[in-house]
Amino acid sequence: MRITQRPRRNRATAALREMVAETDLRVSQLVLPLFLVSGKNERQGISSMPGIYRLSPDLILEEVAKAVSLGVKTFDLFPALPEAMKDQFGKESLNPQGLLPTTLRMIRDKFPDVTLISDVALDPYSSDGHDGVVRDGKIINDETVEILAKMSVVHAEAGADIVSPSDMMDGRVGAIREALDQSGFENTGILSYSAKYASSFYGPFREALDSAPKFGDKKTYQMDFRNAREALREIELDELEGADMVMVKPALSYLDIISLVKSHTNLPVAAYNVSGEYGLIKAGAKAGIIDETRAMVETLYSIRRAGADIIFTYFALQMAEWLRNNQK
Ligand code: PBG
Repeated sequence: MRITQRPRRNRATAALREMVAETDLRVSQLVLPLFLVSGKNERQGISSMPGIYRLSPDLILEEVAKAVSLGVKTFDLFPALPEAMKDQFGKESLNPQGLLPTTLRMIRDKFPDVTLISDVALDPYSSDGHDGVVRDGKIINDETVEILAKMSVVHAEAGADIVSPSDMMDGRVGAIREALDQSGFENTGILSYSAKYASSFYGPFREALDSAPKFGDKKTYQMDFRNAREALREIELDELEGADMVMVKPALSYLDIISLVKSHTNLPVAAYNVSGEYGLIKAGAKAGIIDETRAMVETLYSIRRAGADIIFTYFALQMAEWLRNNQK
């Protein structure tokens, strides 16, 4: 037998494998989502997301300090509000003294150099648990967009570098861009959740924010998992409307979409390694099915390999530690 082509030769030693590795992951590409809750010294566990907590603003500052010491400098903020503060129009979302704007200001004051992303959507504030205004069982697009535009200005005023609409309403990126520009925030960026799918993998997040829809599902605004070309349409529209970065979400069941989007846009592409993807690895490790660290590393590299420039992940700190200990 004469075998001339032996791919194994390039895998023979750790040094060789390191030399020919095609994909890198830098800590600066990781974004840590943070769940906020009001109060002081509050640390509330989330049963489906071991290791992740709702934190009051004072503890958020500690968490940010810890992240920064590990090299993670980008944060995405989500507020968890009591039911009593929610209503049909998500009015609390426009309160400049609300939990999210207040926390943004606190972080901005102490950590002027970090990048703060704020989530723009109605669901944390909606008594219906939907990302928009509900009337007669329908999610009303244009009325919602007006609120989202105002909410974005509130976040920009409070110090957000980037606002991040995760609602999937039509035309919201353009409306947000216009509202920001009119208020003098032409330098505030927009990272659009462009291709966000109606997914079963958001369950733990909805537990974290207590934000599950009170009726129905989100399929009239979030995308159908059978569709790929539709993602390109969404990306194209968001680009035209002025998005600075686009996102695919979730990540793991959508690696093909990340790859497709990457080959069609010149904007930075983000991917959201969502709560269910995190929870499954944690649960799988606890059940002895997989090795947690190796599964985390493989997962995050696969998202990079698919083409994501930026990865939102609850593993951000754990991965940052791994990168620090394994930097070649
Ligand atoms: C809603 C929103 C969701 C997530 C981020 N923003 C959930 C949803 O659409 O119901 C999910 C994030 C995650 O699962 O980690 N605006």
